[in-house]
Amino acid sequence: MADLIVHASGIDKTYYTGKVKVQALKGVNLDVRSGEMVAIMGPSGCGKTTLLNCLSGLDEIDAGQVLIDGVLLHAMHDDERSDYRARRMGFVFQLYNLLPVLSAVENVELPLLVSGVSPSEAHRRSVEMLDLMGLADRARHLPAELSGGQRQRVTIARALVNQPSIIWADEPTGDLDSETAGEIIDLMCHLNQANGQSFVLVTHSQEVGNRAHRIIRMRDGQIEDDGFKADGFLDSQNPGSSSDSGSGNSEPGNSGSNASDMAAGE
Ligand SMILES: Nc1ncnc2c1ncn2[C@@H]1O[C@H](COP(=O)(O)OP(=O)(O)OP(=O)(O)O)[C@@H](O)[C@H]1O
Ligand SMILES: [Mg+2]
Repeated sequence: MADLIVHASGIDKTYYTGKVKVQALKGVNLDVRSGEMVAIMGPSGCGKTTLLNCLSGLDEIDAGQVLIDGVLLHAMHDDERSDYRARRMGFVFQLYNLLPVLSAVENVELPLLVSGVSPSEAHRRSVEMLDLMGLADRARHLPAELSGGQRQRVTIARALVNQPSIIWADEPTGDLDSETAGEIIDLMCHLNQANGQSFVLVTHSQEVGNRAHRIIRMRDGQIEDDGFKADGFLDSQNPGSSSDSGSGNSEPGNSGSNASDMAAGE
């Protein structure tokens, strides 16, 4: 079990809305290895967002357990869990859109301030992160003064500024045109390779899915294919080597593009 950033077993999650009961997750088991980039795919309503919320501790679970880097997430008290999230996880979720009244750099500073970093240090690191995203000259812009792709890069900067070991992304390219979506996925693959951070991303795009090490397919609250070989064999040296998920692409981020290329292209 060593080297697993996520080890989830038997996750059940049921929503009750009035008289309607929705079993959103039914006994989900999922492992993600350190440094792995996995894509979760499946039809609308199959439970992808619910799974991200449950794995990241944003939502409670009804049964099962989630270990993040060996730590039992749902056994923590709320405050402890929030703190753990702020320090160890990054989020690229629509629910966490950029705050419209804060500039790009102020948005990026937020998670640092929440985890107790001093304002001057938070500012320094945020400027550095925006620079890495090719957005140094946009730091003072409000979100409304940025393009969709630039906004998404600010969101990624915010997710990464704490140097989290895992980044959760729910349809990170969903609202973007295909070219900008390509740039964003290039950027995430680059960060995954350069820093060894793990990414769990939900996507409806097969193109985005193909860039991940592994595609996990969900249907009706269950994982119907976890992208591993039938015998469960995994090459322990290279997360990418397990990508027999039909993508035919074992080299994520292989477009050669990186954040500074993108910056230069602007
Ligand atoms: N807060 C909630 N209260 C009640 N039911 C919910 C809630 N959140 C999700 N559901 C239900 O749980 C199921 C799974 O929803 P979820 O948002 O996880 O789907 P999804 O796979 O992310 O879909 P999409 O691709 O459309 O985003 C759906 O049937 C949905 O209606
Ligand atoms: Mg969703």
